[in-house]
Amino acid sequence: MIIPTASLNTLPAPDPVAAAHSARLLDHLRAEIANADGAISFARFMELALYAPGLGYYRAGARKFGPGGDFVTAPELSPLFARCLARQCQEVLHTLGGGEMLELGAGTGIMAADLLLELRTLDALPERYAILEPSGDLRERQRQTLADRAPEWSDRVVWLDAPPAPGFRGVVLGNEVLDALPVECFRVTTQGPRRLTVRWTETGLAWAEGGADPAVTAALSRIESDLGWRLPEGYTSEYIPHLQDWLRTIAEPLAAGALLFVDYGYPRREYYHPERATGTLLCHYRHRVHDDPLILPGLQDITASVDFTAVADAAVAVGLEVAGYTRQNYFLFGCGLMELLAEVDAAETVRYLEQARQVKLLTLPGEMGDRFQAIALTRNLTIPLRGFAFRDERDRL
Ligand SMILES: C[S@@+](CC[C@H](N)C(=O)[O-])C[C@H]1O[C@@H](n2cnc3c(N)ncnc32)[C@H](O)[C@@H]1O
Repeated sequence: MIIPTASLNTLPAPDPVAAAHSARLLDHLRAEIANADGAISFARFMELALYAPGLGYYRAGARKFGPGGDFVTAPELSPLFARCLARQCQEVLHTLGGGEMLELGAGTGIMAADLLLELRTLDALPERYAILEPSGDLRERQRQTLADRAPEWSDRVVWLDAPPAPGFRGVVLGNEVLDALPVECFRVTTQGPRRLTVRWTETGLAWAEGGADPAVTAALSRIESDLGWRLPEGYTSEYIPHLQDWLRTIAEPLAAGALLFVDYGYPRREYYHPERATGTLLCHYRHRVHDDPLILPGLQDITASVDFTAVADAAVAVGLEVAGYTRQNYFLFGCGLMELLAEVDAAETVRYLEQARQVKLLTLPGEMGDRFQAIALTRNLTIPLRGFAFRDERDRL
């Protein structure tokens, strides 16, 4: 997502239908908070705000993606993203002698469609392309996109309600999925780390500091011991509490192949850097980005950057190998982005300039190019992966 920032008072007001929808989710949150003796963890709040059935941001009808929505992701910006990924998938599928693909959180389905089209061109179509998507609303949108963009291959696509059966061989993909997993927020105080909770007050939802919590204390102690320094008083940040369990359910069926995640984030030392003392939570609403997750419930996306060291640690704990880690621009270069651009005839000026503009958007440092990172996690796959051949930065993790 690359979006200009906004101050809270410049956010456009929701229309009456959206406002009524948000009010219904607010009622739901209020009841949940009352049932929980007046406070819920931020992770629970984020789970409900994004995924409460029929009400959460990803579970109801808001437009979300693209120019008329709240944000734009790399596959929405340019088909070159999926075409590069396809080359990485081709390499894995070829090594395995065929196999399947599974996409987690497929958004509008545009990446699935562009991947299938490119894999067809490369003569490397997977036996099946499965999508694991919790949002029924988005599943419908994905079906439509595939029917429009890749009708001849859409019969290879299936939607799953749970991770595939054991014995899966192939590639698992997740673009901007890790940043959508609910995070626990904490603040370091003189009495030790405290979980940040969400309460209901006279003026609506509000942050509160919870008491000492063994899970938060243990998580912070692991983070600090790995960092080799203590986070200072007042330091506020977050972590994904169920990352390892989540990854285990995704990785368990994998007999051989690779999981590939692309997302914005940092290695742990940069994530919990002294300069990032207020954390990484961000909200996306109508192409504005701000840092107040408690407003506009159900109408805005809530995300946190990814601690890629935590992803690597979780991967090792569930029996995967960390096969590569690099920035998005290096990953795309490794997958042949510049060769794809070179295929466009420079005499076709308009087309060439448009492709060059898209390459810039995907690779510019300070934007998607290095704010986004790619990580590959493998099982029973020993080849060097081309996406990490340009530059592998596992030593940063
Ligand atoms: C920011 S969107 C990214 C969509 C798409 N991958 C793209 O790049 O345009 C996050 C997606 O992750 C999905 N998602 C959230 N939690 C998930 C989970 N636990 N498993 C699979 N998908 C999930 C959301 O429903 C949504 O489709």
